Amino acid sequence: MADTIDFEKMEREGWANPAIAKGYADGFELATLLVAKRLSDAVLAGPNSMVLDLCTGHGVVAAELSARGASVTGLDFSAAMISLAQVTVPNASFIQGDAMSINFPDQSFDAVTIGFGVPHFPDPERGLAEAARVLKPGGRIAFSIWKGKGSDGAFGWLFDAVGRLGDPSVTLPTGPDAHMLVDHFIAKPMVTKAGFVDVQLTDVASELGIRLPKLLFDTFDQGAVRAASLLRRQPKAQRAAIREDLVSQVLSQGTKDKSGYRVPAPSVIVSAIRS
Ligand SMILES: C[S@@+](CC[C@H](N)C(=O)[O-])C[C@H]1O[C@@H](n2cnc3c(N)ncnc32)[C@H](O)[C@@H]1O
Repeated sequence: MADTIDFEKMEREGWANPAIAKGYADGFELATLLVAKRLSDAVLAGPNSMVLDLCTGHGVVAAELSARGASVTGLDFSAAMISLAQVTVPNASFIQGDAMSINFPDQSFDAVTIGFGVPHFPDPERGLAEAARVLKPGGRIAFSIWKGKGSDGAFGWLFDAVGRLGDPSVTLPTGPDAHMLVDHFIAKPMVTKAGFVDVQLTDVASELGIRLPKLLFDTFDQGAVRAASLLRRQPKAQRAAIREDLVSQVLSQGTKDKSGYRVPAPSVIVSAIRS
């Protein structure tokens, strides 16, 4: 496997930044709220379930699980994110930890949710195997992934614009493809190998809400880690060109509403049962 030390450093340092944590919570609010509901449906969250929400972030999935009566533990390696989550969901418990090495005994939980966390794992197979380990047999997992390059939506537009207009010398540390698990042929064998059966992939028509077209660029630049690293290191002219390109996408493909624009940010939910 490729050396992912620099990738892990980028992820840890990025999410530890309180401004990025808040930028993500605000910028991705609309999409993550919808997906949190779908993740909670997929694991059948209810009053009798003990759920571990990995990569809990600002607590959007934990809040939905908790609203359904589940006992929720949220885990994240970012103290900045955990501080936000504790305010959002005071009745859940949150711990700082690494999803690659979960500090709970085997078979501790009825369900595991991971809202947009797997794309940040340096080793997704290991993260999924850890989730399987802490689940009881028959327990459920559900995780979400944004559709990326080539998809018709915010992430697809971003990577297309960076590819066409960006400085090709700006590269990222080597890490797993952030969007690969939207592909059934990749997700199914990987999730099965981690210890699950009945692997299902479901498309979700999630959308981002932005006030002004020029702010789609800022959503990525100020509320993400991998995408932000690609944008921040672009020279000024390239940043401006990418911003303008995203503005034209929002104007041609976004939907105007009373608070600004809604733009597609399609995602996929992968769900499965612990064997
Ligand atoms: C994109 S945010 C997702 C937040 C939230 N779950 C949601 O659905 O919007 C990713 C979160 O995963 C956390 N994270 C990334 N890699 C992690 C790891 N190896 N262990 C624990 N947390 C991790 C980050 O700190 C961040 O809070």
